[in-house]
Amino acid sequence: MIFFNQVNKTYPAYLAKKEKVVLENVSFKIEKGEFVCVVGRSGAGKTTLFKILLGEEKPTSGAVLFDGKDVHKVSPREACKIRRRIGMVFQDYKLLQSKTVYENIAYAMEVTGATDQEVEKYVPEILETVGLVEQAFHFPHQISEGEKQRTAIARALIHEPDVILADEPTGDLDPYNKKDILELLTGLNQSGATVVLATHDKETVNNLGKRVITLKDGKVAGDSKKGRFVL
Ligand SMILES: Nc1ncnc2c1ncn2[C@@H]1O[C@H](COP(=O)(O)OP(=O)(O)OP(=O)(O)O)[C@@H](O)[C@H]1O
Ligand SMILES: [Mg+2]
Repeated sequence: MIFFNQVNKTYPAYLAKKEKVVLENVSFKIEKGEFVCVVGRSGAGKTTLFKILLGEEKPTSGAVLFDGKDVHKVSPREACKIRRRIGMVFQDYKLLQSKTVYENIAYAMEVTGATDQEVEKYVPEILETVGLVEQAFHFPHQISEGEKQRTAIARALIHEPDVILADEPTGDLDPYNKKDILELLTGLNQSGATVVLATHDKETVNNLGKRVITLKDGKVAGDSKKGRFVL
């Protein structure tokens, strides 16, 4: 379903003397229905990997295929279709502060062309799925970190995505909230979604016992089923 084929990504030098090599010959395949952890230290290139898959950044060389289609070579229309099949949970949530939890989700639907009826039907369902019915009319400053993370996940679910990319979703959470978020992601995976979880949280990865792709110095340093975080 997802195929990174010899992907290289280099950022230009800017102020530094040398250009920055972020990904080097990164290759892996992820099949439909898998739950995969992508691990590596801060700066290892996890978020960059997601941005490349979403088409927000171009690889310097190599290709990324989604269901056999090169996400950087397809028509804008096709790219948009692929983008809708991927739900991204951003590392910094990207919630709109002046909108409630409900409105944050509704707004994401509206800007991609959903009708009022669709919004009214689907938002309550998503709120139920992520356990935020009680907080629906709270603003981001009135909810906890765990609830913000849930809102970010809710927003990623609006197009019933085939793939969920979760970028460090347990970063700022206490152990209880962490467990809840992981259960939510595991549940979504059991319902059929392919989940890719980027994290530098060792404990989370080791407790999950899922496939682990390890990035180190821009390269894939390990890829193992039921893997452990060993860096
Ligand atoms: N637009 C950019 N221009 C230049 N360098 C960048 C850019 N985006 C990221 N980088 C650099 O690329 C490297 C990888 O960044 P990335 O955000 O992918 O890391 P990460 O693994 O997600 O880290 P973290 O765990 O802290 O989120 C970092 O050294 C970062 O400074
Ligand atoms: Mg990151």
